Amino acid sequence: MDRLYIFDTTLRDGEQVPGCQLNTVEKIHVARQLELLGVDVIEAGFPISSPGDFESVVQISKAVTWPTICALTRAVEKDIDCAAEALQYAKHKRIHTGIGTSDSHILYKFKSNRDEIIERAIAATRYAKRYVEDVEFYCEDAGRTDNEYLARVVEAVIKAGATVVNIPDTTGYCLPEEYGAKIKYLMDHVDGIDRAILSTHCHNDLGMATANSIAGVLNGARQVETTINGIGERAGNTSQEEVVMILKCHHDLGIETNINTEKIYATSRMVSSLMNMPVQANKAIVGKNAFAHSSGIHQDGVLKNASTYEIMNPKDVGIDSGSIILTARSGRAALRHRLEIYDIKMNEEQLDKVYQEFLLLADKKKEVNDDDILQLVGRDRRDQSHIKLEHLQVTSGRGTRPVAAITLDIAGEQFTGAAVGNGPVDAAINALKQIIRREMTLKEFTIQAINRGSNDVGKVHMQVEYNGVAYYGFGANTDIVTASVEAYIDCINKFKK
Ligand code: KIV
Ligand code: ZN
Repeated sequence: MDRLYIFDTTLRDGEQVPGCQLNTVEKIHVARQLELLGVDVIEAGFPISSPGDFESVVQISKAVTWPTICALTRAVEKDIDCAAEALQYAKHKRIHTGIGTSDSHILYKFKSNRDEIIERAIAATRYAKRYVEDVEFYCEDAGRTDNEYLARVVEAVIKAGATVVNIPDTTGYCLPEEYGAKIKYLMDHVDGIDRAILSTHCHNDLGMATANSIAGVLNGARQVETTINGIGERAGNTSQEEVVMILKCHHDLGIETNINTEKIYATSRMVSSLMNMPVQANKAIVGKNAFAHSSGIHQDGVLKNASTYEIMNPKDVGIDSGSIILTARSGRAALRHRLEIYDIKMNEEQLDKVYQEFLLLADKKKEVNDDDILQLVGRDRRDQSHIKLEHLQVTSGRGTRPVAAITLDIAGEQFTGAAVGNGPVDAAINALKQIIRREMTLKEFTIQAINRGSNDVGKVHMQVEYNGVAYYGFGANTDIVTASVEAYIDCINKFKK
C-alpha cells in the first residue's frame, strides 16, 4: 500500500470562517483530538496574522507531540521569522510559505512578473530553510496557473529545498480531470520531483473539492490538505472524512492513510460544537442522515443484510448511536467517559460544575446528546466573560405586548433594564440596550432547527455590527429567548473597545 499523508488545516484555513474562531484552549482540545485521530500534519495557524494565532501555534506545539506542527506564512521574511519563533517548541515542525502564481495574482495582487515571482519563491524557501528542514511551498491559485509556468515554480522551489509543494485550487475552479492532469503534468515534467511530495489543497466553491483531491492523489499527489467537516472559507475545503473513507472503501486503489477512522465522528462533533458550525444533515460520512435509511425498501434490505444499502459500517467511523445519549439518571462516571471520548480531561471540581449543569439540562431535556455536552463545556468560556446574563424574565403571548426585564453582571457589578418590543427577543434585546448604550445593529439572526423534539436546545447565531465591524456570537439554551440574548452578549464581549 502507498501512504498518503493527511494535512489538517481545520485550525488555519477552517478557522478563517467568520464566527468559527476558537480560543487557545479550544484549539488545544481540537489539536489533541486530531492527534488521536492520526493526522500527519496539523496546520496550527498563521502566526504573523495576530498575537492570538501566534500564541495558539506556541501552545499547540507544546501540547501535541506526534504530528508535525505547521505554521503558515507569506513569502515574506518577517512572516517566516515569526513562524519560526512560534514553532520553537514543536517536536516536528514545518514552515508553509508561498506566493500567488496565477497571472491574475501576479498582475493584480503583486503587480509583478513571472520571473520576479520565481525569485521571490526561491528566496522565501531558502530563508525558511535557515530555520527548519521541513519546508512546504504553496503556489497560491495553482488551479488557474498555466501548467508550464507552474512546473518552473515547482522545480525552482524543490531545488531551493522545499520538501513538500502544495498545488492549491484556491478558488475551487478546476474540474477533477483538469486538476488530476495538472498533478500528472508536474509529476512528468518537474526535474527532481522525486525529492518532494506534491500536496493537494482544494476548495469547494463548485462542490468538487473532494473529487479534485482524489484526482490529484490518483495522479501522484501524496499529501492532501483537508479540514474536518470540510469547513473553510466560502464553500469550504476538502472534507477530510470523505477523502479518508473513499480510500478505505476503495482499498483496491492501494493507498492508505494513518487515520483511525473510528475517531472520525467524535472529531466531527467536537469541531462542529466548538466552532458553532452545524453539519448539514445529508453531509457524507458525518451528517445526521448519513446512515439513516428511511424508505421501506431500503430498511427491509438493511435489516436482511446491511451490505445491501450500506457501503461502510457506521461503526467504522465511530457512529454507535446507542452510546451517544445521556439522561438525568447518568452519573459523573458516564459524563467523564463521554468527555474523554473528546479528549476533554477535567479535575473533580471542574467535572462537578459541568455535571450540575448537565443535570439541570437533563431535567429539561429527556436526552442529552454530545453536542449539548460540548456546549456545556464551552459555557465555561462564557463564564469568564466580561458581561454575563444574570437574569431574564420575558412575558409574551397572544394579546399581550411582549415585555422583558434583564439583569447583567458587568465585571462583577449588577445592572438591570426593562423594555417592550414587537416580540420576546426584540423586548429582551431592547432591555439589554437600556444597559449597554452603544450604537450596534443586529445584522444576522438564525435559530438552528431543533433536531430531536421540542425540548431540545435552541442554538442561536448572531452577527452584530459595531463601529463598522461585524462581530459573530453564539448562544445555546432550551429557552430560545435566553439563547438569543446570550448570542447578543457573546458579540458584545468580542467588541474591540
Ligand atoms: O487556498 C489557498 O491557496 C491557501 C494557501 C494559503 C495554502 O489556503
Ligand atoms: Zn485554502
